[in-house]
Amino acid sequence: MEFQNRMSSEMVACIAVEALSILERMHARGYVHGDVKPENFLLGQPSTAQEKKLFLVDLGLATKWRDGASGHHVEYDQHPDMFRGTVRYASVHAHLGRTASRRDDLESLAYTLIFLHRGRLPWQGYQGDNKSFLVCKKKMATSPEMLCCFCPSPLKQFLEIVVNMKFDEEPNYSKLISLFDSLIGPNPAVRPINTDGAQKVGQKRGRLNVEEDDDGQPKKKVRLGVPATQWISIYNARLPMKQRYHYNVADARLPQHVERGMADGLLISCVASCSNLWALIMDAGTGFSNQVYELSPIFFHKEWIMEHWEKNYYISSVAGATNGSSLVVMSKGTQYTQQSYKVSESFPFKWINKKWKEGFHVTSMATAGTRWGVVMSRNAGFSDQVVELDFLYPSEGIHRRWDNGYRITATAATWDQAALILSIPRRRPGDETQETLRTSQFPSTHVKEKWAKNLYLSCLCYGRTVA
Ligand SMILES: *[C@@H]1O[C@H](CO)[C@@H](O)[C@H](O)[C@H]1NC(C)=O
Ligand SMILES: *[C@@H]1O[C@H](CO)[C@@H](O)[C@H](O)[C@H]1NC(C)=O
Ligand SMILES: *[C@@H]1O[C@H](CO)[C@@H](O)[C@H](O)[C@H]1NC(C)=O
Repeated sequence: MEFQNRMSSEMVACIAVEALSILERMHARGYVHGDVKPENFLLGQPSTAQEKKLFLVDLGLATKWRDGASGHHVEYDQHPDMFRGTVRYASVHAHLGRTASRRDDLESLAYTLIFLHRGRLPWQGYQGDNKSFLVCKKKMATSPEMLCCFCPSPLKQFLEIVVNMKFDEEPNYSKLISLFDSLIGPNPAVRPINTDGAQKVGQKRGRLNVEEDDDGQPKKKVRLGVPATQWISIYNARLPMKQRYHYNVADARLPQHVERGMADGLLISCVASCSNLWALIMDAGTGFSNQVYELSPIFFHKEWIMEHWEKNYYISSVAGATNGSSLVVMSKGTQYTQQSYKVSESFPFKWINKKWKEGFHVTSMATAGTRWGVVMSRNAGFSDQVVELDFLYPSEGIHRRWDNGYRITATAATWDQAALILSIPRRRPGDETQETLRTSQFPSTHVKEKWAKNLYLSCLCYGRTVA
């Protein structure tokens, strides 16, 4: 069997056009394929009418993107521990456990076409337990320019369009198909592969194996932003109250700020860390009756925490520094009845999921270097909670959750990932306004502007976003 190491631009374009028509028909019936990859494309029997026809097989992972009865698009959701598909060709959203929609088939098709043309994708060769994590990170870090530098420009345009599609966006199939027009010659009679019977297009063989986006500025495309490390700050509407912030606070200066705040009737509502310096928010609206804190060279100092749990203090905020030290604040007068925490090397979604079932909700969260620390409490005052976890700031997910009544209640980020916890409060505040801000400097002037609108800092972290 003859096989070319890499397919010509024309062959790839022919496959693209055929594959897009197939996906258009499948999507029109309400289904997403869920596992688009070279091995799942077959050619018809040679010397028959179907010889040049492409087939997409294996519907094992197909799901509905449209509800049959209502005709509505399925609801957006994210379960960061749920991955379905094939690591090499999966869309980034599939890696992150987001509900499958039409855009995911198109992103997988883009990777399939680039693989067929280049013979290789840059994220091949990872092994081990966090293979999916590393591949996803690499996909996010590889711009269409980098990935398509040896590809014809229609392929790059195709990739750019599909990786920036919204969850429920209707693909413009004819526009996508027309991208490839210029590559297809006058007699597009290309038979990509010589085969006996149905031949898998990419069969292994030879060398072929080879925001301020939320503040009125124009919406950024989902994945075209430049990765950046920034402050993520969240503001909630509240009745007027006293709030104070400190940032760039060294260990030695922390006590004097806390003491002065307490003398003025303020308690710590939120802490964060940037470059081994602390940020501290104190206000008059915490509802706590008493508070203690500890700076520790250990990320979550178990003995100290247990000792204060015994005395009915609960962790109310926590921050971790790059060098692994931590600032834990514990308060009396919270509504919590039980608390548990976990420190882990990767985002502990499985543990969170288990604890949700036991009636706990995430109440604070921090990172120290690459480690995550998550605190969950019983009787946290939430009726439901979800996680948005992404290698970039998950703008789209946040907006979708907001629309469904969720508000951000905790946030933390590493150099790689940002996580936001969104919750539905049991008792809804009169004014549910929430705003988010991403800034490279601590947002001191912004905070004052927000105060003037009765918006108060509710959580804060420093880490991976996209500018
Ligand atoms: C995941 O990859 C990182 C390197 O990026 C490594 O330090 C870590 O040990 C890996 N974890 C697992 C579970 O393989
Ligand atoms: C699809 O794209 C074409 C070409 O850009 C455009 O003319 C057409 O209006 C688009 N269709 C829809 C439904 O947006
Ligand atoms: C972390 O960095 C801070 C500020 O440079 C320093 O005061 C602290 O002792 C360091 N902690 C550890 C555990 O090295």
